[in-house]
Amino acid sequence: MSRSPGLQPPAAARVLPLAFARRLIDWQLKAGRRGMPWQGTRDPYRVWLSEVMLQQTQVSSVSSYYPRFLARFPDVHSLAAASSDDVMALWSGLGYYSRARNLHRCAQVVVAEHQGIFPTSAQALQALPGIGASTAAAIAAFCHGERVSILDGNVRRVLSRLLAFEGDLSQLTSQRELLALAQALLPVAPSLQDMSAYTQGLMDLGATLCTRSRPNCEGCPVAGLCQARAQAQVSRFPIKTRTLKRRHESWWLLLVRDRSAPAMPRVWLEQRPPRGIWAGLYCLPVFDSEAALLAAAPASMRPKLEPLTAVAHSLTHRELRLHPMALDIETSARVASADRWLPAGRWVALDALEQVGLPAPVRQLLRG
Ligand code: ADE
Repeated sequence: MSRSPGLQPPAAARVLPLAFARRLIDWQLKAGRRGMPWQGTRDPYRVWLSEVMLQQTQVSSVSSYYPRFLARFPDVHSLAAASSDDVMALWSGLGYYSRARNLHRCAQVVVAEHQGIFPTSAQALQALPGIGASTAAAIAAFCHGERVSILDGNVRRVLSRLLAFEGDLSQLTSQRELLALAQALLPVAPSLQDMSAYTQGLMDLGATLCTRSRPNCEGCPVAGLCQARAQAQVSRFPIKTRTLKRRHESWWLLLVRDRSAPAMPRVWLEQRPPRGIWAGLYCLPVFDSEAALLAAAPASMRPKLEPLTAVAHSLTHRELRLHPMALDIETSARVASADRWLPAGRWVALDALEQVGLPAPVRQLLRG
């Protein structure tokens, strides 16, 4: 049977809400995660920045990037006024770079169209670049206590188990249906502190106890309300018939080092196109085969190309295998044309790499 959003929630969702919200809030205040650098503030700029960084990224990575980013851009005005190269350089290594581009655009829109003040409702926040429904809900709940539910991947798992939700979450209609149920579970007339603890509690439960594999039901504050557990079928939820398939791809990377000034070696970097993988970042020139890379180099240099150890790197839709090929050249006046054949790009000194936005595996390669 299929239901549409807005219709009567099932019996489970009618009897659950009060007990669920209360237990979750009490548990979060007692045992939830605390001490994360973005907690203890209601400043929408700070909450927004942390929520965008935390999309698909581990708390441990964000914990080091967030304070550095804030120190450089302490408010929405400084971020809006920054150059995109500076923003990308600070984001470098955090991945999913469209987040950084949208973040920058969003800051500019907030300054230009909202006098530097973030809108307060989840609905208005969602109209801004890079702010989806769940991020908008998190900001509105944490900063203003709005009674609105987050529903990111972790929370979908928690709620689909709690309700033994049979909908297929690879379908948009089921996602909407679960969102309507999530709204029905929210605490009634919550204070700001309740709404914050509830929202953080959902995230904490998904990240620490109600994990994808080997959930810790014994430690769960709402195990007694959990329908999937009552059916002894926790691992059957969430139901998702379509899973992400990553395509395998090999890339050959040309690592050209200029050794003409031994005290200051430089590498040749090209800027990635504005769309696609690592869009706008600086990268070693990429070739889709070894033959293509060899063909780009002058015949006299080909024997000097040295294959380095290949590295694997996973993206959302791709499994990349990166094959670096290194070449040392000298660009002194004596050999003025030594770099004429290189694809469009620029030299960057090895000790200035943190000033450009680089994908994490390329940064590692250049450090190694
Ligand atoms: N993931 C998304 N938002 C989060 C938050 N506020 N705390 C921890 N993990 C999160």
